[in-house]
Amino acid sequence: MALDIEKVRKDFPNLAARGRDDKPLIYFDNAATTFKPCQVISQTHHHYCHRTSNIHRGVHYLSEEATAEYEAARDKVRRLLNAKSLSEVVFTKGATESLNLLAQSYARPFLKPGDEILLSTMEHHANIVPWQMVREMTGCVIKVAPINDRGEIILEEYRKLLSSRTKIVSIVHVSNSLGTVNPVKGMIRDAHAVGAVFVLDSAQGISHEPIDVQDLDVDFCVFSGHKLYGPTGVGVLYGKEHLLDSMPPYQGGGDMILSVTFEKTIYNRLPHKFEAGTPNVAGVIGLGASIDYVTGLGWADIIVYKKELCTYGTKLFEGVDGLKLIGTAADKAPIFSFVLENVHPHDVGTLLDREGIAIRTGHHCTQPVMKRFGIPATSRASLTFYNTKEELDIFMRALRKVIGVFR
Ligand code: ALA
Repeated sequence: MALDIEKVRKDFPNLAARGRDDKPLIYFDNAATTFKPCQVISQTHHHYCHRTSNIHRGVHYLSEEATAEYEAARDKVRRLLNAKSLSEVVFTKGATESLNLLAQSYARPFLKPGDEILLSTMEHHANIVPWQMVREMTGCVIKVAPINDRGEIILEEYRKLLSSRTKIVSIVHVSNSLGTVNPVKGMIRDAHAVGAVFVLDSAQGISHEPIDVQDLDVDFCVFSGHKLYGPTGVGVLYGKEHLLDSMPPYQGGGDMILSVTFEKTIYNRLPHKFEAGTPNVAGVIGLGASIDYVTGLGWADIIVYKKELCTYGTKLFEGVDGLKLIGTAADKAPIFSFVLENVHPHDVGTLLDREGIAIRTGHHCTQPVMKRFGIPATSRASLTFYNTKEELDIFMRALRKVIGVFR
């Protein structure tokens, strides 16, 4: 059954907010963060109103209830990713922290000078900088798979860069600045053929399509809650159990230990070994609610509708004189990055904002992508399942008005 978009929109109170100068809001900045449905807001609210307490520490009722809800959310993530066990699901504060954890606890202790990490041109800074920090500490080498003019990884070049020296491949699932959906299953197979582990940066991909870590045979996968209609400040690191087991803790503190003396500390079992300190309890519970929400809507319908938006939007953008889409991959999400002849992206963003339309402008934390296309920045309209074709039509009228100002 198709999504009932009008009904779905009622679940997101922020869609009824007003834009600048009290204009009706059109929110096309979903790649930066998504709105949260009432179901997520009310679960988080419920925790703070009725269950506030620390977890894994109390014998009292509230603590037991909060612990149960927190661990229930872990199981929701496990089912979302089809992970084998709860030990493989670590809560972090976001995809960025998950990647830093991997860089410091997986890469740093194991990499030797000359070992290679393979990335691609379209990586987000969060999937570049942590590895560069490790390069400074270990003397490893970073290789970069190039992309073509459509914004797709050139797979022959990717394969050529893989060798017995490659120890880690870390690639984005869906590009936040280009919208490209990468063919990660084959890329994972190629990485495994040379003995490398594969890290999937699914910060953007998690809301695009379901991820089955066992089917993909991916070694690590990271994402943030806030791009999956969940709270900010919470994220996930999935890792195969034997790999997580082999890694030292990332941070020390409470809850990640079994016993502490000044002579020796015994670390807790997985996944708690990687969850030092009081976690974002309400955030994790909210993330659990967002997973319930999305799975309740149904992935199949979400995918069909987002594809429709993508096809409809692409035609509209392609019909604008002097507009160039940056990112025209054969397989892409409804993320439209574009540049307009003689108009700076920041001016586009500012003038659209005056019409009540929210987009993002800039380099989108992917400066190497901008360099590849020889531009400083793009304007980016990123849509999701609560957006509509009517909104795209209104957006296009506003964009033509912006163009008119500059011609
Ligand atoms: N990475 C986020 C974006 O693409 C913040 O806007």
